[in-house]
Amino acid sequence: MPVDKRKLKGKEPLPLLEVRGVQTYYYTDFGVVKAVDGVSFSVRRGEKVAIIGESGAGKSQTGMSILRLIPSPPGRIVGGEIIYEGVDLLKLPEEEMREYRGVHIGVIFQEAAQALNPVYKVGTQIADAYRVHHDCTKEEAWEKAVEMLRKVQISNPEQRAQEYPHQFSGGMRQRAIIALAMVNSPNLLIADEPTTALDVTTEAKIIKLINDLAVKEDKALIFITHDLAVAAGLCDRFLIMYAGKIVENSSAMQLFSDPKHPYAQQLLEALIDVSKSEDEIMAIPGLPPDPYNRPKGCSFHPRCRKVKAICQEVEPEMITIEGDRQVACHYYTDYQAPKLKVVSSS
Ligand SMILES: Nc1ncnc2c1ncn2[C@@H]1O[C@H](COP(=O)(O)OP(=O)(O)OP(=O)(O)O)[C@@H](O)[C@H]1O
Ligand SMILES: [Mg+2]
Repeated sequence: MPVDKRKLKGKEPLPLLEVRGVQTYYYTDFGVVKAVDGVSFSVRRGEKVAIIGESGAGKSQTGMSILRLIPSPPGRIVGGEIIYEGVDLLKLPEEEMREYRGVHIGVIFQEAAQALNPVYKVGTQIADAYRVHHDCTKEEAWEKAVEMLRKVQISNPEQRAQEYPHQFSGGMRQRAIIALAMVNSPNLLIADEPTTALDVTTEAKIIKLINDLAVKEDKALIFITHDLAVAAGLCDRFLIMYAGKIVENSSAMQLFSDPKHPYAQQLLEALIDVSKSEDEIMAIPGLPPDPYNRPKGCSFHPRCRKVKAICQEVEPEMITIEGDRQVACHYYTDYQAPKLKVVSSS
């Protein structure tokens, strides 16, 4: 049915991606790990969305769920919807899903080794990724690969395209991975810790490159990192993840001026505490919960400064405040927490 543009006038355009209640579980010999435990968020065109959280929070698994790259067994997406431009990716046959990967949705994996094959020339890998989705000659695809290497500012790209990944430095490999992810101009780029292995100067350059290449008016970025400082200069929306759930979804302005979730507050305090060394930054007291045995109630309660009885018993629901801002906490500032009902066991 054609879209009536008059009806859309003044309304927000539909998001590029809508993730609704996604659950990705791993069934292991030791029990079930709820790696992604009911995650919902949306990404609009032109938006740069950060997923932030400690190791094991479920950031990569969220990204991999969107791409349907969960190793099965032992993993499985057991619930939810992933709507990309009106299509539920979870309902597509694998064959059609392959069209979405790389063309509509590009990815920079957390492990560089996952992206580049050591036995093929860098140029060949980028050219092949292009040829899979374009009707072109080998020569044209090779030209495209060289052009992409030039775009990611690799000097002498004609010669470099002939080299193997091990002949590249870490920073150059990361640039080549970006070229590979961007060769089919995806509308959505998922970048999972793209700068973790790099020194600070190279990191800044790579972030700028991702910003310049991946984010245009009609495109969007999901930037996954444990490092709030890295995302701070890049992203405009922040999803704070803890133990498989999003606990706060705020704009950059909202998060940095007035974080609502106690975990977000502690992350920010750690970030701006100049008395700490670089290694201590981002470390907040306590440990993330054992994924096989998460605490009852709010998963964050054992580490939370605001913890009260209800937090140990009842899991807080995600509630919407201030427009599209969301928080899952019984005691975020002015929110009235429900009274804990004590149920007698007798
Ligand atoms: N193959 C697997 N089998 C069992 N559990 C798994 C498997 N892969 C991931 N998980 C679990 O899923 C949870 C989320 O993992 P994920 O890789 O998404 O964390 P992350 O937030 O990306 O952490 P990091 O910052 O270390 O990359 C973890 O508890 C992890 O142990
Ligand atoms: Mg990860």
